Amino acid sequence: NSTIFSMIQPTGVFHVGNYLGAVRSWVDLQAAIPADTKLIFGVADLHALTVPKDDPETLKFCRKQAVASIIATGVDPERCIVFQQSQVPEHTQLYWYLSTITGMGYMNRMLQWKSKANLEDNASIFDEAAASLRLGLFAYPALQAADILLYKSNYVPVGEDQSQHLELTRHITNTFNKQYPKRDTKKPIFPEPKTIFAPFKKVASLRDPSKKMSKSDPDKTSCIYIPDGPDRIRKCIRRAVTDSIQGPITYDPVTRPGIANLLTMASGFLRVDSPEAVLEKIQPKDHKELKDGVAEIVIEGLAPVREEYTRLIADMSYIDEVSRRGAERAREIAVRTMKEVEKAIGLEN
Ligand code: TYM
Repeated sequence: NSTIFSMIQPTGVFHVGNYLGAVRSWVDLQAAIPADTKLIFGVADLHALTVPKDDPETLKFCRKQAVASIIATGVDPERCIVFQQSQVPEHTQLYWYLSTITGMGYMNRMLQWKSKANLEDNASIFDEAAASLRLGLFAYPALQAADILLYKSNYVPVGEDQSQHLELTRHITNTFNKQYPKRDTKKPIFPEPKTIFAPFKKVASLRDPSKKMSKSDPDKTSCIYIPDGPDRIRKCIRRAVTDSIQGPITYDPVTRPGIANLLTMASGFLRVDSPEAVLEKIQPKDHKELKDGVAEIVIEGLAPVREEYTRLIADMSYIDEVSRRGAERAREIAVRTMKEVEKAIGLEN
């Protein structure tokens, strides 16, 4: 029996990219896979510390919002383990062991720390410009590898922006397995985790279809959030950047990326196979009719999630209980893995 594992950062409420690209695909997996497959979904609150935080109360609330959003999307906390990373100390412990076998040159190639530190893609940790780069931001992908390995995960469902981190995770897995096989059998401890992409692995920004929809985008109308009501959804979609091509609306991701993004997003909410099927349903005469039609589809698709989210966030005791119980269940597995790891390294009692 295998394990499916993923995490999301608690950066406030989730946007439609997180929803279609990640959390809803977790729900779909939950419905589709055999009962003996373990499903583990975490809130990466330690990763969230790699960008400056406002204050402890805000972080605490964001962590709860993240759990509420996961449950509101339809993840069943009985079937799945839902937990917060900081509540399972073995994550940081395994991270340390992994950091001792991970090459700095490989880490240096990762693109996320460069974009978060406003550096060019070809920047290096040894550049003067990176002098004040914080160690945690640079080491972030090694902690992500520890998250995945701690549960001996076989599959990791994520959006496209995480593919480089998963490649690094596989590299770290193989290095560890070679250096520290089980002492008695010489067999590897960790399976090599595979990436699974959701069908909506890259939802684009509504303001710039060449970029991914992102929480850190300063233009807030670039994102639709799970708890958004009809007015905000209509406003964001009305302002979405499309094109000025006259004539019938067509689906063409290359020449009409803005329209393609709207159609793809709507196909996700309608659960139809293709963006073209959305066109057939809306039959828009012009850009305005397209946007109005897409907005109504998104409003209807998000309504049950919003309702459930609002209900959950009004009484935190259920969320707290889910997180507490999730951490307990996660920890059982984590402690078992760490025993094996420490034995393989020679750190056992
Ligand atoms: P995070 O919190 O940035 O994003 C959570 C998930 O949402 C996906 N995603 C998107 N998918 C499609 N379109 C978009 N515009 C979009 N934006 C975000 C991400 O790909 C991701 O699947 N480093 C991770 C969190 C993490 C993790 C892990 C993930 C920590 N440890 C272990 C997997 C396994 C992150 O920052 O995701």
